[in-house]
Amino acid sequence: MKTLKIMLALGMLSLASLSVQAVEIRDHHKEVIGKDCKACHDKGIKQFPSDQACLQCHDVSELAKQTARSEQDKWQNPHNNLHYGKELPCQECHSEHETKKPLCSNCHTFKYDKHKE
Ligand code: HEC
Ligand code: HEC
Ligand code: HEC
Ligand code: HEC
Repeated sequence: MKTLKIMLALGMLSLASLSVQAVEIRDHHKEVIGKDCKACHDKGIKQFPSDQACLQCHDVSELAKQTARSEQDKWQNPHNNLHYGKELPCQECHSEHETKKPLCSNCHTFKYDKHKE
């Protein structure tokens, strides 16, 4: 019985340290969001945030302007692109606690130099 309890406690410990590692928040969000997990996790901490959570603070049309390309390459704009327009969920290209490449890189070699993986 005692060993079982110890094993359980050890199991909890490793789980706890895992989740601490998993919740590193990006520098650009630290100042505005701090430790307020719910600012993004509108569907509970165990679910990925909805796109609406990001859209509380970000505006796709504004983003599309900021990442606009030259006329010739205009549909490579990640925030207003050939296949999805402005409709692609943020999380297809941006991650908070992990690294992530933009979805487009699965099939194209466009340069997205400012993307923070
Ligand atoms: C409480 C407001 C808030 C929420 C919610 C929020 N952000 Fe941000 N985010 C900011 C601010 C402020 C900045 C820094 C200024 C800027 O770059 O717009 C920022 C920066 C960023 C940047 C980096 C900009 C750069 O410097 O390259 C990305 C990418 C980003 N947010 C994506 C997201 C995604 C995806 C979500 C949803 C999962 C999200 N944000 C939710 C406020 C927010
Ligand atoms: C198709 C992939 C893709 C999607 C979807 C996407 N982004 Fe981005 N985002 C990028 C890339 C790539 C960059 C870097 C732009 C560059 O290199 O010019 C970027 C840059 C940004 C920046 C920094 C803008 C700047 O001035 O440099 C913010 C903030 C941001 N994204 C937030 C969001 C939010 C919020 C959403 C959802 C509404 C979103 N993105 C959806 C790929 C994407
Ligand atoms: C700026 C938005 C944002 C904030 C703030 C944020 N998260 Fe997240 N979280 C995400 C996104 C986006 C994902 C999806 C995976 C990824 O992109 O890293 C995620 C995924 C997770 C997951 C994994 C869920 C699964 O099903 O695998 C956990 C656990 C988590 N977050 C915990 C936290 C905790 C704890 C905090 C507060 C300390 C926090 N998050 C703050 C955006 C955020
Ligand atoms: C599953 C693969 C796939 C993904 C993911 C994908 N594309 Fe494409 N894309 C294609 C195919 C196939 C074509 C048509 C063949 C061609 O012209 O290369 C194409 C064509 C294009 C073109 C016109 C041709 C060119 O090379 O300029 C643009 C612009 C484009 N895609 C942008 C994007 C952007 C931006 C993303 C990310 C939001 C993206 N694509 C994601 C497969 C993909």
